[in-house]
Amino acid sequence: MVMKVLVLGGGGREHALIWKIAKSTQVSQVYSVPGNAGIGQMAGVECYQVDVGKNFAGLIEFSKKKKIDLTVVGPEAPLVNGMVDAFEAAGLHILGPTQSAAKIEGSKVWAKELMERYAIPTAPFKVFDSVASAMTYLTEQNRFPIVVKADGLTGGKGAIVCGNLMEATTAVVQMMVDKEWGDAGNRVVIEDYLDGEEASFIVLTDGVNVVPLASSQDHKAIYEGGPNTGGMGAYSPAPVVTPEMHERIMREIIKPTITAMVDEGRLYRGVLYAGLMITADGPKVLEYNCRCGDPETQPIMVRLESDIVPALLACIDGTLDQVNLKWNDKAAVCVVMASGGYPGQYEKGKVITGLDAVGTMEDVVVFHSGTALDTQGQFVTAGGRVLGVTALGEDIRRAQLRAYQAVDLIKFEDEYHRTDIAWRAINR
Ligand SMILES: Nc1ncnc2c1ncn2[C@@H]1O[C@H](COP(=O)(O)OP(=O)(O)O)[C@@H](O)[C@H]1O
Ligand SMILES: [Mg+2]
Repeated sequence: MVMKVLVLGGGGREHALIWKIAKSTQVSQVYSVPGNAGIGQMAGVECYQVDVGKNFAGLIEFSKKKKIDLTVVGPEAPLVNGMVDAFEAAGLHILGPTQSAAKIEGSKVWAKELMERYAIPTAPFKVFDSVASAMTYLTEQNRFPIVVKADGLTGGKGAIVCGNLMEATTAVVQMMVDKEWGDAGNRVVIEDYLDGEEASFIVLTDGVNVVPLASSQDHKAIYEGGPNTGGMGAYSPAPVVTPEMHERIMREIIKPTITAMVDEGRLYRGVLYAGLMITADGPKVLEYNCRCGDPETQPIMVRLESDIVPALLACIDGTLDQVNLKWNDKAAVCVVMASGGYPGQYEKGKVITGLDAVGTMEDVVVFHSGTALDTQGQFVTAGGRVLGVTALGEDIRRAQLRAYQAVDLIKFEDEYHRTDIAWRAINR
């Protein structure tokens, strides 16, 4: 079969997915909505600006017109808003959870209560729908750090680790009074702080069978201890996920979650991402995401040796038990190059140089996030996160060195990147 695939989204995650999907022998054409300048330059890939429309009608019309055989959704919001339901109702093939299953990311309250009902390990928590009750709890507990989380989607900014009562108060006010994230802050989860090392555990599932992707870890903070961003870098594998830990995560977390979703009548199909804290007491779930992580997807796709398309189709067909993914033994490190000022204010339109030189480096792949082409056809910055530079190496240390060699060749005004991506894995 020769397929046309549509990928929704326009970040580094989507560039990495498209890079992998476009290599498939089963795929003749990839459409990217909205894509970015890097995606637009790929052979066999076309970017389109499409008005999503009410209930995804614009996207459905586009998919029918282009005769799309498979749609892959990058970001969480369309999934939580029912894109899969809408596409399926229109008779289109799409990979991802339905709206009712995507609730596992759409509502942190719901996800915590699910874990409680099915004894899936997670931090002890309480749910609050008023400032007064939240404040009473925080004052009574008087135990810090503690974590305050907005219930709904906040683009990764609504979980705040609070070191003292003042910080916790600020977090509650920000969410529940100032409504910084609108209705997402109508309710908050307050949970115990967990000590340990984090890992991202991402799997493909057809609702029953599970195929794990390689383990990974991202760096959310703009610098160690600084404010959170969409993600400043990532590496794979995550050494904290030893073979024994992998087995435990599958047994104690992933499989019970998939079964729980069946029992709840919310069969979960697509990508399930468990954000974990590996504590002295075993792995615990910090949160679930209903899609791939960004930037984790970048090192993961670079390490994936198998064709991804049969695995994606098997998620939809319910035949994932017949899929086995092969991984490159090498480690991959991804360094995000950002616009100076991000995650706050930053300027756009800075000319990017050095991409051609890096393009000739072996074992290095650059995925674009916020880039555009100017009138002279040069790449310019167009977002906070601009590029993800991923390198393979015999081990994490060598992959890191290689990634930074490439980063050093790429320049744009006010460029910022972390210089310590994968430090924790290297220090082990
Ligand atoms: N219970 C917890 N203990 C310690 N750190 C936490 C806890 N919950 C969240 N965090 C930290 O906050 C980050 C964001 O929390 P998460 O639940 O993943 O929400 P989101 O990704 O929506 O912002 C985590 O990656 C982790 O670093
Ligand atoms: Mg998270």
